[in-house]
Amino acid sequence: MSPEHSGANNPGRLEKLGLQTIKQHQSVCGDHTFDPAAMSYRSNKQPLPIFITFEGIDGSGKTTQLHRLADYARHTYDVEVITTREPGGSAVGRLIRDILLGDTGRDTEIDPYTQVMLFAADRVAHMEHVIKPALQSGAWVFCDRWEDSTRAYQGAGNQLTTSAEDADYVESLITMARRDILPDATFLLDIPAELSAARVTGRGATKDRFEQQDLTFRQRVRDAYLQLHADPQRQNSWPMYRVDAQPSIDAIHHALRYGLDQVIDQHLTTP
Ligand code: ADP
Ligand code: TYD
Repeated sequence: MSPEHSGANNPGRLEKLGLQTIKQHQSVCGDHTFDPAAMSYRSNKQPLPIFITFEGIDGSGKTTQLHRLADYARHTYDVEVITTREPGGSAVGRLIRDILLGDTGRDTEIDPYTQVMLFAADRVAHMEHVIKPALQSGAWVFCDRWEDSTRAYQGAGNQLTTSAEDADYVESLITMARRDILPDATFLLDIPAELSAARVTGRGATKDRFEQQDLTFRQRVRDAYLQLHADPQRQNSWPMYRVDAQPSIDAIHHALRYGLDQVIDQHLTTP
């Protein structure tokens, strides 16, 4: 995909987006309300394809919010929005997901190095077969988890980042798996580790490999996300917006609508 065609792979645009990240939008809080002015974009030129990732610990509400925000985007901006997830967003990825999280791998121990390679393999296939073609066709892509999950779960959760050598190994796999595409924005849905445990238990389904992890693991994962959000170097790559995901589903949705409108606004005003 050439940079001119993609809202997700334009270094000039990313730099400009980077300007309005950590300083002005450190947190998209729950008290923002929907800005009706956004509706006027409908009659203007279409924004370029946009790639947005949703991150957060298990039970933070990513899946719920991603689908609501996709509906909002379709109605407000009159665009095709593809919703997808990792792991398991591609055909081969669904097989990898079954090893990592499903019945196939349920009783198989997977060491941290193999684990991070499986997530990277899933991402390569997802980028090549689903996300790049979708952006090339002009669709927007909303993705439930992406590479910040690898940093948070495999890097911090599995404690690979405690050794510089292992941290480099994780980062090199992450860089390779991007396939030269970066998101336009990431929404980090942030909840305390205790609430994550309660929501996952409340869901009632059989717990997967990561949902079974203890509170200490969850805390490491949450802390890693918060560190990424506070890291100017990470924010320079593309903006990560933190959303307090403890209020009601509606309140969070409105905060995310506001955040999305800001991202779109950047696209429309970027020459
Ligand atoms: P994730 O995809 O991050 O794991 P889900 O969207 O599946 O999270 O939500 C996890 C559980 O928490 C679901 O049962 C969902 O209905 C519930 N939930 C999501 N958001 C909220 C919220 N803001 N308040 C209370 N419960 C919520
Ligand atoms: P899933 O049920 O899809 O997500 P959620 O629990 O958020 O609804 O489970 C995906 C799991 O995979 C989740 O526990 C995080 C984990 N994961 C990683 O450990 N590394 C990664 O790179 C990705 C994409 C996911």
